[in-house]
Amino acid sequence: MNASLRMAIDAAPHIVVTGGAGYIGSHAVVALFAAGYRVTIFDDLRRSHPQVLDGIAAITGEPASLVSVDICDEAALDAAFAQCGQVDAVIHFAAYKSVRESVADPVIYYRNNVGGTVSLIAAMARARCRRLVFSSSCTVYGQPDALPVTEASPMKTAASPYGASKQMCERILRDAQAAKGNTSLSHVVSLRYFNPAGAHPSALIGELPAGTPDNLIPYITQTAAGWRKTLRVFGSDYPTPDGTAIRDYLHVMDLAEAHVAAVELAMRASPGLEEINLGTGIGVSVLQAVAAFEHATGVTVPIEMAPRRPGDIEQIWSSGTRAADKLGWRTVRSIDEMMASAWAWQTRLGSTPPAGV
Ligand code: NAD
Ligand code: WQD
Repeated sequence: MNASLRMAIDAAPHIVVTGGAGYIGSHAVVALFAAGYRVTIFDDLRRSHPQVLDGIAAITGEPASLVSVDICDEAALDAAFAQCGQVDAVIHFAAYKSVRESVADPVIYYRNNVGGTVSLIAAMARARCRRLVFSSSCTVYGQPDALPVTEASPMKTAASPYGASKQMCERILRDAQAAKGNTSLSHVVSLRYFNPAGAHPSALIGELPAGTPDNLIPYITQTAAGWRKTLRVFGSDYPTPDGTAIRDYLHVMDLAEAHVAAVELAMRASPGLEEINLGTGIGVSVLQAVAAFEHATGVTVPIEMAPRRPGDIEQIWSSGTRAADKLGWRTVRSIDEMMASAWAWQTRLGSTPPAGV
């Protein structure tokens, strides 16, 4: 890298990305870097693979700057912020995300997702950083009464401790932003993601869940790759055109770029709070998702029909109006690109699953 580019990067706003070694965080790190930000990752890699750092470095041409820290440990967070120098904003991805695991072990979800967010806000105040972008989820809405879901749609009682943890974090952030005390935040942008899928076009980073995937798209790619025998389609008796459940799948690179726009919103002059849905606005059924994968890749996915999965909602998709107004953002990548990139990443992983998968 030449000296003038180095100086420009050193002078750029500095963003801390908690959970930046995870699936969405790693793609956001790459997008932030491409937009000219300086990035430090706070992640202890408890739910990610160290190779993701090599992938980020290969894409950006810069070593990923990682501080290994448990975001629930306030003293360790203080040391991490002290090591960073000035931080202009934080994007907070670090959390657990499995609905199933949260039902089995709710306390670890409240401790990590809620406790970690509280610890982070307190440490940010001591580090004099009061601008936060938060990873929320469409799960805060439950089964909506009307579609598409707008940010004004009511939040139902959460169906899982995971969903409750996101609702609680959003409430904590609203309170912290409205307050004027020592631990208040000046700028908060909570992003409610719908269903992220796909991978960076280089296939150097992507999604690799530990164990059997809960989510549809990694299950499709792992089945197509022969890691799994068949894809079970959970529920064929929903009141939808083909009887299978409908979701709003968005390309992870579109989602990553939304974080660049959200950081820019959080860096504005006047304090504020925004809660914004991030989706395509298009509902896709499970069978349509399988067909889209087969169309994009030419690879057949063996399926079998199975009963509904407990706790699943029937159908949900997003309104993109507020994201367009507040972030100037909408998705630009097609479902074909999403599926092709997910498959390119899966293919790079090889014909047998790595240990622990
Ligand atoms: P991920 O599991 O791939 O990444 C999470 C990262 O956070 C991992 O690298 C993990 O090591 C790190 N982490 C977790 N707890 C930590 C702790 N206490 N200290 C330090 N690091 C810690 O998850 P993801 O899919 O990238 O999701 C990121 C965020 O987006 C999460 O908050 C999740 O709830 C939210 N979200 C995800 C989805 C989705 O479908 N993937 C949808 C909506 C919202
Ligand atoms: C999509 C559809 C399944 C696997 C989850 C979380 C939610 C949010 C997004 C984080 C459903 C069906 C799946 C399979 C299948 N994450 N399916 N066979 O249910 O919208 O939400 O991810 O915030 O909180 O709950 O996504 O990908 O798990 O499922 O038929 O092997 O695919 O039943 O209808 P979901 P998903």
